Amino acid sequence: MIKIGWIGCGTHARHMLLPQLGRNGFRIAALCDRDGKALQDTASEYGVTTLTDDFADLIKTPGLDAIGMAVGPELHHVATLAALEAGLPVFMEKPPAADAAGAREIARASQKAVKPVLVGFMKRYSTGNKIAMNVLNAGQFGEVLGITGTYMTAPTYFEGETDYTGFYLHHCIHYMDLIPWFIGEDFGDMQVRSVSPQPGKLLLHLNFTTDQGKIGNIVMGTVQSRGTPMEEIRIMGDHARLHVDNVINVSMYRDPPFKAQDPKALLSPDCDTLSWTPNFTAAANEDHKGYDALLSDVAAVLRGETREVPNIEDGVRAMERLERMIKMI
Ligand SMILES: NC(=O)c1ccc[n+]([C@@H]2O[C@H](COP(=O)([O-])OP(=O)(O)OC[C@H]3O[C@@H](n4cnc5c(N)ncnc54)[C@H](O)[C@@H]3O)[C@@H](O)[C@H]2O)c1
Repeated sequence: MIKIGWIGCGTHARHMLLPQLGRNGFRIAALCDRDGKALQDTASEYGVTTLTDDFADLIKTPGLDAIGMAVGPELHHVATLAALEAGLPVFMEKPPAADAAGAREIARASQKAVKPVLVGFMKRYSTGNKIAMNVLNAGQFGEVLGITGTYMTAPTYFEGETDYTGFYLHHCIHYMDLIPWFIGEDFGDMQVRSVSPQPGKLLLHLNFTTDQGKIGNIVMGTVQSRGTPMEEIRIMGDHARLHVDNVINVSMYRDPPFKAQDPKALLSPDCDTLSWTPNFTAAANEDHKGYDALLSDVAAVLRGETREVPNIEDGVRAMERLERMIKMI
């Protein structure tokens, strides 16, 4: 069992992260939140008795193997530095800090302490994205020529606000990791355009090229309903196209012949479209958004195994891309 001290008993931790810990070999040894009710309620759910409202005290709890946290950018930064100072590895939700300089400071501290800092870019683990990436890596698709990604949300938290910092740090950060991960390259030349019909409502387009000549377009904004699917990925190859919709539905379009004039037209496994959609009626513990799969890999790394888990170096790169984008808006 990995004895973890956990900071932050908010909505995301309680709904998506903490339920995955036990089945992945973690035991919550201590909990921290400055909201007494959230702390007590979470402690009762998981039978935790070592409780504090001060993250520095939590880190001092004897016998911990790691620190986990889902709080927000400023605390991710300071609490991770404190955990590393105490010689403890960290799993943190995104974003790693409020700015790229903070993320770089954590990366330096992680190297100095020789302890991993793993970052919750779980979109890499969403079933559809994972399948698409495996298809690219398996060589079934050929060269990637371009990519388009759409990540939308609603103005809920931003209504009336002209400061979009929260949107950038909590939402856009995902595609600052996911899109370069898919194409295996960083943004090269880049342009950003934006439109804002009202305060709180923002639509922005980022287009880029890469050193190896790929092209891409990322659409992000706060002008759609959270009651609708919000994400679309389109990966363009030569006579091949991968679509991932709503992080779960995957299709690979290939190069089939026209069928209208062929009275014997069939579906060919060699060239027709391959697609996959999950069965939501199966009573399996499937977590298509990827939190369980991410935490399974995090646990493996904390046990000393090697996995490609997003880490603070990925966090630094994502924050640097984000800052570059924000400067161009
Ligand atoms: N990857 C994802 O899908 C995803 C989804 C939602 C949120 N998140 C991330 O998770 C983090 C938390 O988001 P949330 O929606 O749960 O927020 P939240 O506000 O519901 O929870 C944050 C919790 O941290 C506590 N807290 C704040 N400052 C503290 C401090 N100094 N000491 C101790 N406790 C403190 C708050 O009392 C609260 O309970 C954010 O960084 C967010 O970006 C990720």
